[in-house]
Amino acid sequence: MVTTNRSKITANGNGRLYAHIVGWGKALPATIMTNADLAAFVETTDEWIVARTGIRERRIASETETTATLGLEAARRALEIADIMPDEIEMVVVATSTPDHIFPSTASLIQAGLGANRAGAFDLSAACSGFVYAVSMAAQAIQSGSIKTAVVIGSETMSRVMDWQDRGTCILFGDGAGAVVLRASHDEGGVLASVLRSDGTGGDLLGIPSVGTLDYVGDDISLPEAHGHKLNKMHMNGSEVYKFATRVIAESVLQVLEKAGLSLRDVKLIVPHQANLRIINAAARALKVDESLFMCNLDRYGNTSAASIPIALVEAVEQGLIQRGDPVVFVGFGGGLTWASMVVRWGAPTIDGQLRFKRQRRALTYAMARFRSRVTRMNHQMNDTIRRARPEQGRVDRLRERVKKLP
Ligand code: COA
Repeated sequence: MVTTNRSKITANGNGRLYAHIVGWGKALPATIMTNADLAAFVETTDEWIVARTGIRERRIASETETTATLGLEAARRALEIADIMPDEIEMVVVATSTPDHIFPSTASLIQAGLGANRAGAFDLSAACSGFVYAVSMAAQAIQSGSIKTAVVIGSETMSRVMDWQDRGTCILFGDGAGAVVLRASHDEGGVLASVLRSDGTGGDLLGIPSVGTLDYVGDDISLPEAHGHKLNKMHMNGSEVYKFATRVIAESVLQVLEKAGLSLRDVKLIVPHQANLRIINAAARALKVDESLFMCNLDRYGNTSAASIPIALVEAVEQGLIQRGDPVVFVGFGGGLTWASMVVRWGAPTIDGQLRFKRQRRALTYAMARFRSRVTRMNHQMNDTIRRARPEQGRVDRLRERVKKLP
């Protein structure tokens, strides 16, 4: 059993450590872009988009919202549900294809914003499969006994890498973030199995050419423009990706269930990457299960890449679709090519609403984290200004030190 006092690992199991999801949160920009809004500047229609994808609207980040700010908001909400303090976190992983910078990692920015001063932080790049990869990595660190608590975030600002003239891709994507808190427990359950796969030969089917400016297409390795690709903009071969996605979902779900020693009949809910309703329905047909077994919210958010599974998971929990003890499957697929699936036995207690005693302390930690970031950065700036104003000062000081040491 996962106790509500999660500062200790409960010890009533078989001695093994399990990684349970004990907190969850999402963050979505307030700005909604409907299909009709899109049709005002791209040659498309609401009817075409709904019929081919199931998407009706998506969220678009404002000028001040970034992958880090959305991820931070989602993580803070997950900490509220888990009722843990930031200094209990030992690992922050952000799955993203749209990091704020190449480095510092988005995870480090979020770690600073949380005031998680005992945590390591890194970004993980596995495109739309990234969240499942990241949960798998964090769960293994917990199951090995290396850490007790991790925050895993999927966060994206896909709107910033869209080619808004390419109607084959820009209609599909949106912005948002989702996060979970993973916690060690001796109680059986949590992450039971995962299957992570990649086929880099499909790397040309979708991508965002950026720092490494050469693109690989067929035998040809040349600048992105030579292939009609734009720097820092997403390109995609929609029909090939469609075929790949419909093939791997069913295959991957069956593989991970076998690994967990479960069958499809045991599964309460499948939370798939929210790319296209037709892809999800094709997967349901391939698995010979009812479409309602699949969580689906892409009509409101479109494809939010690595954020789509955690956002859908949060909404499934909020809608009461997952209860304690239920086996839930996550399945992601996307650029790389990559795909990944995972079985989780839901072990988190139902949301209580009463246990919010650490809320004020968390708010204080966030305020202090903000203050600390500002002061530290001002300090860096001030040192820099002094160095520029008196470039000789450092040298003079060093010389004085050396003279002092002379016999
Ligand atoms: N609005 C109107 N017409 C569009 C359009 C749009 N937004 N985008 C493409 N079309 C047109 C095409 O130009 C084409 O016209 P043509 O027959 O005159 O040449 C026609 O619609 C059919 O295009 P096609 O690309 O074959 O459509 P499709 O049924 O394959 O749907 C996708 C396109 C992108 C929706 C679909 O391929 C898909 O969802 N692929 C998977 C993408 C995905 O999920 N990627 C992310 C994975 S993580």
